[in-house]
Amino acid sequence: MGLLPSFRASLAWALLAAVLATELSLQESLLLKSLGLSAKPSPKSPIPVPSVLWRIFQKRKTLPSANKDLADGCRVEEFNVPGNIIRVFADQGHFIHNGQPPRLLCLQKRLYFNLSVLEESERLTMAQLEIKFSHNSYHTSSQGQVFELRLYQSSQLSLRGMPSQEGSRKLLVEQSFAQLHKSLLFNLSGVAKDWRTYSRNLGLVLEISVSSGGGASALASMGLQSLCASIDSFLDTSLLVVTLSQQQCKASRRRRSAHYTPVTPSNLCKPRRLYISFSDVGWENWIIAPQGYMANYCLGECPFPLTAELNSTNHAILQTMVHSLDPEGTPQPCCVPVRLSPISILYYDNNDNVVLRHYEDMVVDECGCR
Ligand SMILES: *[C@@H]1O[C@H](CO)[C@@H](O)[C@H](O)[C@H]1NC(C)=O
Ligand SMILES: *[C@@H]1O[C@H](CO)[C@@H](O)[C@H](O)[C@H]1NC(C)=O
Ligand SMILES: *[C@@H]1O[C@H](CO)[C@@H](O)[C@H](O)[C@H]1NC(C)=O
Repeated sequence: MGLLPSFRASLAWALLAAVLATELSLQESLLLKSLGLSAKPSPKSPIPVPSVLWRIFQKRKTLPSANKDLADGCRVEEFNVPGNIIRVFADQGHFIHNGQPPRLLCLQKRLYFNLSVLEESERLTMAQLEIKFSHNSYHTSSQGQVFELRLYQSSQLSLRGMPSQEGSRKLLVEQSFAQLHKSLLFNLSGVAKDWRTYSRNLGLVLEISVSSGGGASALASMGLQSLCASIDSFLDTSLLVVTLSQQQCKASRRRRSAHYTPVTPSNLCKPRRLYISFSDVGWENWIIAPQGYMANYCLGECPFPLTAELNSTNHAILQTMVHSLDPEGTPQPCCVPVRLSPISILYYDNNDNVVLRHYEDMVVDECGCR
């Protein structure tokens, strides 16, 4: 070949770099898959992290190591339900503008939560709708006024060109509230389970009207518009869903309590410090917290005679004995993790939902010769 040697060298480098990049992206996709993601998320219009998820995340993070052993990664203590994934879905529905709004109706909105990201193997254990109103101090003057909230589940009929009448929707909730409420919570566990099993998620319809029991004179003296005005502070709706993914949940595993041995310089098998920074792997734009964590790794010798501190198996003890007699024929046992602990990660998924997920076996606590 008439190629210049330097050109051949740079060609080889380019090929090597391409191979390495492919390897790396393969590794990354394997890792993302183990985190339950189809591809690396790139949040487009991420919602702010709901405070309830921050609270749970902070609480788990500050648990001392010893208590982590008691904490069950497969239960969400805050809601007292089984689960290791908590998602908050943003509402994707729109306001409904009828030509002529019925009397007393302040607001009519379709609510839609796309639950298609839930994997089939996940068991839904809780779904809670939150409707949040912000305080609007300008309207506190119209006291004593009561609103009525109705929440309907849309049924199949409304799709077939039927006008959205009572027959095409099922009343789920009817509740009165005063404007002081900051947020209202509704248990939608049953409805959300339906949405998954029938894959017929047609969403909900939310209606807020002025209660006629609020006094006919009040209605007469103030227009409907001004009575509804405080509802303008209507903020947002979201659905919090807890699921249990069995694959990552090995609850029955026994954990020993961690204790810290003084760090002595030694080449014996033991955990070494390793901090994994998510920005180093280019994941900082979709992982919200933590920014990284102390993952550690195992390194060191497993020499003859193995002592109790090296957490060996009988097999490893025999292997070191054979190794000491025949170093060429039989290798030393390996220094490997024997106790790992979990962490929780807060991130945006492929659909821009905020997810708090519990992952087993993320941190090396103890090593042993095996
Ligand atoms: C729900 O999300 C999935 C996955 O992102 C998407 O393919 C689907 O079109 C969405 N459905 C609706 C009705 O928006
Ligand atoms: C929510 O509703 C489901 C049934 O739809 C019920 O089993 C569950 O106990 C309810 N949860 C709470 C906290 O009330
Ligand atoms: C072996 O386990 C004990 C606790 O049972 C631990 O203190 C020690 O650090 C472990 N040894 C290694 C090498 O990790």
